[in-house]
Amino acid sequence: MATLASAPVDDAIVAPATYADPAAYDALFTRLRAEDPVHWTEPDGYRPFWSVTKFADIQEVERNAAQYLNAPRMLLRPIAVEEQVRKLTGGSALMLRDIVHMDGRDHMAHRKLTQAWFMPARLKALEDDLRALAREFVGRMAAAGPSCEFVDDVAVWYPLRVIMRILGVPVEDEAKMLVLTRDIFGPDDPDIRKGPKPDLASTIKGFTDYFGALTEARRRDPSDDIATLLSAAEVDGEPIGTLELMSYYIIIATAGHDTTSSTIAGGLLALIQNPAEMKKLRADPAILSSGVDEMARWVSPVKHFFRTAASDCELRGRKIREGDSLMMCYPSANRDEEVYADPFRFDLSRPPNKHLGFGYGPHLCLGQHLAKMEIRIFFEELLERIDDIELDGDPAWIASNFVSGLKRLPIRYKTR
Ligand code: HEM
Repeated sequence: MATLASAPVDDAIVAPATYADPAAYDALFTRLRAEDPVHWTEPDGYRPFWSVTKFADIQEVERNAAQYLNAPRMLLRPIAVEEQVRKLTGGSALMLRDIVHMDGRDHMAHRKLTQAWFMPARLKALEDDLRALAREFVGRMAAAGPSCEFVDDVAVWYPLRVIMRILGVPVEDEAKMLVLTRDIFGPDDPDIRKGPKPDLASTIKGFTDYFGALTEARRRDPSDDIATLLSAAEVDGEPIGTLELMSYYIIIATAGHDTTSSTIAGGLLALIQNPAEMKKLRADPAILSSGVDEMARWVSPVKHFFRTAASDCELRGRKIREGDSLMMCYPSANRDEEVYADPFRFDLSRPPNKHLGFGYGPHLCLGQHLAKMEIRIFFEELLERIDDIELDGDPAWIASNFVSGLKRLPIRYKTR
C-alpha cells in the first residue's frame, strides 16, 4: 500500500489548529483513511508514532489490550514536556498512576473500585438530582434570554457541577477545580487559558493538597460520594497507594466534565444547523435515548489516546515494532466510510449507531452512562423551556489535539 510521506501532513496531525477547524480535520483524516490508514507520523517536536485512523483498526488495537499497552505513553505531548515530566519524576514517564495509565490485572482491580457507581442501576438514584441541576441551568438561560454565550454560561458549568457533586467537592470549590483540571490536561488555547500554564508539579500539588484534605474529612465523616468510597478503597486487601488514590480523584475530576460539556455544546450546534433533526426531536424527545450516542459520535470530544506495542506485530499490513506507539484517532474512526453510509450526516435516529466516541475494550469510558444520562436530561429540560434557538454569531472551537470542542456558541432563543 502506498504511504503518505510528507512533513506538512504529520505536522497537521498534531497541530492544535487542525482541531479548531472541523473542515480541515475532516479533509486531512478522510485523506489518511483513504490513502494511508495506519500512517507513520514524524511531526516536528514529537516522538514519532502510528496514526490509526480507521474504526476496525482502533477496535483491533483496543481489543488486544495485552499486545497494545496503555503505559507508558498515553497521550500526545511535545518532547520538551515529556522531558520536563522525566526531570520531575526522577526518570519516570508518568506523573500520575490512574486507571488510564494501568494495564492488565492492575487496571481491572483499580477500575472495579468505582465501576459499580457508574453503572446505570446506581446512576438511576441520581436522576432527580441531575434533573434539578439541568433545570437550574436552563432556568439561567431563560433568565438571561433572549441570548447567551452557551459555552461559558451553561455548557461548562452543568457537567462540572454534576461530577463535583458525585466526587464530593462542594459548590464553592468548583471554580478552583475548573482551573486545576484545565491546568493539568486542558488546552493552551489563549481564549481558554488567560495566563501561562503553571508547571505540572505545582498543579499536581494543588490537587493532592485538596484531595488529601477531602480524604481525611471523609475518613472522619463518611458520606455518599466517590471521595468516601476512595478514602476506604483497598486493592488485594491493602489500602490503595497514595499516588493511585490521588490519581483516581484527578482522572475522575478531569475526565468527567470537558468531555460532556463539549458534547452538549456540539450537540446543540448540530441541532441548530440541522433544523429537521431539531424538529424530529421536538416531536419525539424519546429519540434522545439513542440520539445522545449520535451527539457523542458527531462531536467526538476525545481526539486521541495512545497505546504502545508490547512486541512486534502487524496492523493492516504495517509492521509495528515493539515499543512503537499508536495514536487512536477517535473522531476519524467515527467518520469511517466503511462503517457509516453517510458519516457526515447528523442523524439522531441512526441505527444502531456503534461508535468509538467513548473508546472500546477494557478501558471503555468509565463515565459513559453518566455522560449520556447528563446529556439526555439536559436536552429534555432545554426542549421544555427554550424555543426557536438560532446562532447569534459565529461558533469557534478550542485549539487542542487532546480533548476539545466548542469554545464559543453565541445563541438567540425564545423562552416559554
Ligand atoms: C461525552 C462525554 C465523554 C466522552 C466522549 C468520554 C470519552 C472517553 C474515552 C474516549 C475514553 C478512553 C477509552 C479507551 O481507552 O478505550 C474515556 C475513558 C475514561 N473516561 Fe470518559 N468520556 C466522557 C465522559 C466521562 C465522564 C462523565 C466520566 C466520569 C467519571 C469519565 C471518566 C472516564 C475514565 C475514568 C476513563 C478511563 C477508563 C479506563 O482507563 O479504564 N468520562 N472516556
